[in-house]
Amino acid sequence: MGSLSAADDKKTIAAMIALQSRTWLGVPVRKIPPDLMALQEVIYETKPDIIIETGTFWGGSGLFMAGILESLGKGRIISIDLVAKRNRHPRMVCLGGNSTSTEILERVRSLIKPSDRVMVDLDSAHNLEHVRKELELYGPLVTPGNYLIVEDTNVGDPAEAVSEFLGANPQFIVDKSREKFSTFFPGGWLRRAGSACS
Ligand SMILES: C[S@@+](CC[C@H](N)C(=O)[O-])C[C@H]1O[C@@H](n2cnc3c(N)ncnc32)[C@H](O)[C@@H]1O
Repeated sequence: MGSLSAADDKKTIAAMIALQSRTWLGVPVRKIPPDLMALQEVIYETKPDIIIETGTFWGGSGLFMAGILESLGKGRIISIDLVAKRNRHPRMVCLGGNSTSTEILERVRSLIKPSDRVMVDLDSAHNLEHVRKELELYGPLVTPGNYLIVEDTNVGDPAEAVSEFLGANPQFIVDKSREKFSTFFPGGWLRRAGSACS
């Protein structure tokens, strides 16, 4: 994997700083607008019943995704952070704990019905070991045709974890079409083979 040039690095850091001031309906959100747009398209097209988000932060991204589910008239977002954050929307369920702990996994599983279509968005800690573990635990929950989004693949460790995961899980493919806008998750928009909508 190539490393970032000094100029790219500077650009990424500046963009990261700018992220701090982004909000969705007044709630801070740590995503760039093109990634929010792409997320909206993914949710609209695949219509998941459940979205699992690791890394709530202030809840801006959860509120954003819950609002799209509201527009579709169905679905819930389960959002996990080390400490349960404020619930921002009736379609949002906030859980507190380590996303890779057995307790959290059990609580997440208990909220999913067998018929649910499930999408996952990994945006908690971005170190190799953690992303690797999240992929191992949450990857199997994603249903055919739905997405497993691994955020911040532009900074190294998450990209390495994705590459390992794809080697062992050929049922997932990188959907490059989701990178038509600028993205902080290059190679991180993974779609599970199959059809999402009946
Ligand atoms: C990048 S922020 C999430 C940003 C949010 N998804 C958004 O777009 O606005 C990462 C969050 O992950 C949480 N976090 C870090 N390690 C975690 C872990 N092991 N389990 C659950 N959450 C974790 C942090 O507390 C932080 O709020």
